[in-house]
Amino acid sequence: MEMIVIEGGRKLSGRVRIGGAKNAALPVLAGALLTGGKVQLEAVPTLDDVTTMLEVLVHLGAAVETESGGALTLTTAELVNSEAPYELVRRMRASFLVMGPLLARQGVARIALPGGCAIGARPIDLHLKGFSAMGAEVVAGYGYVEARAERLRGAEIYLDFPSVGATENLMMAATLAEGNTVIENAAREPEIVDLATFLNALGARVRGAGTDTIRIEGVPELQGGRHRIIPDRIEAGTYLMAAGAAGGEVTIENVVCRHLEPVVAKAREAGLEIQVESGTGEGGNETLRVCSDGCPRAADIITLPYPGFPTDLQPPWMALMAVSSGRAVITENVFEDRFRHVEELRRLGAKVRVQGRMAEVAGVPQLCGARVKATDLRGGAALVVAGLAAGGVTEIGYVHHLDRGYANLEENLRLLGAAVGRQDVPLPEADTA
Ligand code: UD1
Repeated sequence: MEMIVIEGGRKLSGRVRIGGAKNAALPVLAGALLTGGKVQLEAVPTLDDVTTMLEVLVHLGAAVETESGGALTLTTAELVNSEAPYELVRRMRASFLVMGPLLARQGVARIALPGGCAIGARPIDLHLKGFSAMGAEVVAGYGYVEARAERLRGAEIYLDFPSVGATENLMMAATLAEGNTVIENAAREPEIVDLATFLNALGARVRGAGTDTIRIEGVPELQGGRHRIIPDRIEAGTYLMAAGAAGGEVTIENVVCRHLEPVVAKAREAGLEIQVESGTGEGGNETLRVCSDGCPRAADIITLPYPGFPTDLQPPWMALMAVSSGRAVITENVFEDRFRHVEELRRLGAKVRVQGRMAEVAGVPQLCGARVKATDLRGGAALVVAGLAAGGVTEIGYVHHLDRGYANLEENLRLLGAAVGRQDVPLPEADTA
């Protein structure tokens, strides 16, 4: 089994450049199915999740040309399939985002029920209710969901929860619907704004993205267009927490600070020194300078939809708090079962008590390296943060979770002076069964 091996306890120092956001790239790629025109994308990150989405798109009829430096050209002159099969969708929940575009463009979509990180029940009822409100006939059974509509109709949709995926799927479907759609209690994440910017570049009429009311005026068709994906705020936050836990001085390039406001505010509360510099490079994005002595103060967090503290950074924050000088309470409000990393952090010596949706972390002066396994993508990131701070060697298994969402992870950490590598390690007997 491949493992990431970290010899921890070294301070980090140097620069890391953040790539395009996974959670912005995936819906944008799905949205490319809405047009027969040529879609040119920049800053698409090289990640396993992106590869999976591209496989789904090719299966549906897209022609993909990959260029260097994260540039991609996609053309879907014709959709040749209406089904996204289980083998692809089970690898990644976000493949379900092709449902809206397929339904809008060809009136039928059949998608396997999604897989992805095991972090709770993660239903898709809000997506389906929205498609029904737009006049689709939705049938679920035998592990698939099928939706049909000759042409979707604009509708007023209220989301019971500001689901990111449901907002994206419905927004994409509405671009080609007849008439106007209003999505109330919409998610406000930066990735939603990025998707709206992309759709509008193709000729869609989406207004209000970034607020809780999104209005979409349907158009008969979309054209080709060009778009650059925003930087990954979760990747940036992960390096920020790594610097906080291991200590040192790290410069994080290519970030949009506004997207990281709740994270930077909490990190400052935890005693990290953070300076923001306006960017001069491509895209004009900003740079964060993070300075930490490796002994953060305890600071509570509550995860919430944007602009609250992002649930995806809750596990790395727990790793940071594990080496804090006090007790921090972490409340997880977005997913009902997102503490699977706790057991693994405990193997590194973290003191964490979980009660329902709350975890209390009592900081310890030093974590100790051990063999652990990534339970999911961001749970894996928590183990990397903890492993960098821990004394001795930490071996992290199930690294495929990390490859879904972090490009060049080991190279980036090595540039920061960490002793990190990837090795093939024999499986422990209990895991070979
Ligand atoms: C997206 C992100 C993920 C992030 C999450 C929350 C992508 C590819 N993934 O996931 O990294 O952790 O947002 O910020 O962008 N829910 C329902 N019914 C639905 C849909 C969702 O009850 O139909 C619930 C979920 O179970 C969960 C909550 O809503 O408890 C949030 O889920 P959602 O915002 O939809 O997350 P994703 O889009 O799956």
